[in-house]
Amino acid sequence: MTQTPTLLQLTDIYKRYESPGGAATEVLKGLSLQVDAAESVAIVGPSGSGKSTLLNIIGSLDKPTSGRVLLNGQDISQQDEKSLAAIRSRQIGFVFQLHHLLPQCTVLENVLVPTLVAGRDGAAERADRLLERVGLSGRLLYRPGQLSGGERQRVAVVRALINAPKLLLADEPTGSLDQAASDNLAELMVELNREEGTALIVVTHSTELAGRMDRMLELTDGSLVEKDSRK
Ligand SMILES: Nc1ncnc2c1ncn2[C@@H]1O[C@H](COP(=O)(O)OP(=O)(O)OP(=O)(O)O)[C@@H](O)[C@H]1O
Ligand SMILES: [Mg+2]
Repeated sequence: MTQTPTLLQLTDIYKRYESPGGAATEVLKGLSLQVDAAESVAIVGPSGSGKSTLLNIIGSLDKPTSGRVLLNGQDISQQDEKSLAAIRSRQIGFVFQLHHLLPQCTVLENVLVPTLVAGRDGAAERADRLLERVGLSGRLLYRPGQLSGGERQRVAVVRALINAPKLLLADEPTGSLDQAASDNLAELMVELNREEGTALIVVTHSTELAGRMDRMLELTDGSLVEKDSRK
């Protein structure tokens, strides 16, 4: 059997928040996680269990109180903000619950924003191709306010993939969509994960979406428990 390379390795992660009242809340308690290249993983768990906290730590938007986060063997919990920005823009794509598109920019401009930082050749061609892939060729010059919720989320997915990241992180990406639109978006992310070889970590309340991933993990009491995603 050929060995799949490990893309992401979290070891013994603790995250404590100092609360406004003074007492601290420990959200992650010795959590570990390993994700291989091109693997898709769903993270489920009740509200407040720490899913967004975990995703922000994986994406280097937040630092753990202690523990190691290795991305491609590089410890991202120990880098300065400048190196982190470079790692994020080249290796990690984000899709948030709210799309965060720039309202004054067109679909095409929104998708190309991350390439201004990373400076990729062929970005415009890739943008065209991906937007066609998600059925938005006819919307290139529309602004976010002229799109449906599902179309906006598809733009957000394309924007997250434009720099061909190794890892796509999505935090409850289908939260604001109806069932049909959210099924479409889920299907799209799974297909793009296969086509592009991008590893995918999706936080979701939908067991339907979770069931389409290679693995389903539940965040309970500060650590992850493997669940059978084929149930
Ligand atoms: N900046 C912060 N300061 C203090 N406490 C915080 C902070 N951010 C999150 N928390 C606390 O950490 C816990 C986990 O929050 P988190 O947002 O990670 O949960 P979640 O699993 O994503 O929930 P949901 O499903 O509702 O999005 C919550 O109890 C929250 O109050
Ligand atoms: Mg959350």
